[in-house]
Amino acid sequence: MSYIGLMSGTSLDGVDGVLTAFDGKLHAAYLPFPTTLRATLLALQAPAPDEIHTEALAAVELARLYADCVHELLRKVGVSAGDIRAIGAHGQTIRHLPALGYTRQINAPALLAELTGIDVIADFRSRDIAAGGQGAPLVPAFHQAMFGSPDATRVVANIGGIGNISVLHANGDVLGYDTGPGNVLMDGWVARHLGQPYDANGDWAAAGRLLPALLDRLLSEPYLALPAPKSTGRDLFNADWLAERLQDFAAAAPVDIQATLAMFTARTLADAILRDAPDAEAVYVCGGGALNGHLMTQLQALLGKPVHSTDALGISPNHVEASAFAWLAARFCDRQPGNLPAVTGARGPRILGALYPA
Ligand SMILES: Nc1ncnc2c1ncn2[C@@H]1O[C@H](COP(=O)(O)OP(=O)(O)OP(=O)(O)O)[C@@H](O)[C@H]1O
Ligand SMILES: [Mg+2]
Repeated sequence: MSYIGLMSGTSLDGVDGVLTAFDGKLHAAYLPFPTTLRATLLALQAPAPDEIHTEALAAVELARLYADCVHELLRKVGVSAGDIRAIGAHGQTIRHLPALGYTRQINAPALLAELTGIDVIADFRSRDIAAGGQGAPLVPAFHQAMFGSPDATRVVANIGGIGNISVLHANGDVLGYDTGPGNVLMDGWVARHLGQPYDANGDWAAAGRLLPALLDRLLSEPYLALPAPKSTGRDLFNADWLAERLQDFAAAAPVDIQATLAMFTARTLADAILRDAPDAEAVYVCGGGALNGHLMTQLQALLGKPVHSTDALGISPNHVEASAFAWLAARFCDRQPGNLPAVTGARGPRILGALYPA
């Protein structure tokens, strides 16, 4: 059976879609967010007046973009809605506060089912939270299924807006959690100073000098030292968080701050991997961070072990997260659990998601 996975992550760059064809091939489509939708989704990350109305309108617009992505995939592959068993649609996170008992991925799954004529599985995270878990990360189970090796410990590092690792032990045990920021702080800084959505290949960061005092201050964030299970988002790592830590660095050159933010992301990932997977044979990176050559070089230098993109294991780094939601949709359809309690901290395995029939 074929499934479609739709992911739009913390970076707020756009919608990644994949279609897993019956022959095992993976097909992908990407639709960037229109500027106005991106601005609305960014605004929804923090409290503001009239949020319910704004959220509902944004969810409708998001579902229409999801539907466009589905139609593009169907057209590309030359299949019809009836050939797809289900769509796994993550939705857009606007709050992630598991300690308070909730996480919010806005979405309009009923509309998506209506527009596509395909069963939609949505709201993957809340059942895990209901069972006492973090609701995140959910991708380690998929990483294990796709990338695990019986011969060696492997680490998959997803560098999206936030960074997360999956430690895949040879015996099948999996550990995973959010390590801290991925691209989110670097993206914000380059947008503010160069007006670009991201630092292509990390070239701007590579031109700057590291500010050790600033790096120390960033690394003193208590989240980084918390034991797993743990997860985070823009609720913590946002522009205000950074501004507070930059107070004594008003005279620093923006390019040096970018260099330090890149090292901060690399250090948080490398420290976590060296602590929790010292025996890993290699680290495989997915998410947009895999396209940041500067970050990849720094990570490899800090780790002293090979760092590859997940291309080396057969899936493009841009397609891994969306594939995970196609996989989670399949798990739901087969009434199989999607979470790993050892990762999220939930009381047990749970079937994740809710069905909106076509
Ligand atoms: N060529 C590139 N060079 C440097 N960074 C890049 C490049 N292409 C993409 N990126 C980074 O990757 C980000 C998008 O990554 P991705 O889509 O994996 O993150 P996401 O949407 O937050 O997903 P998730 O939450 O699932 O991890 C961009 O915002 C940018 O920071
Ligand atoms: Mg993205």
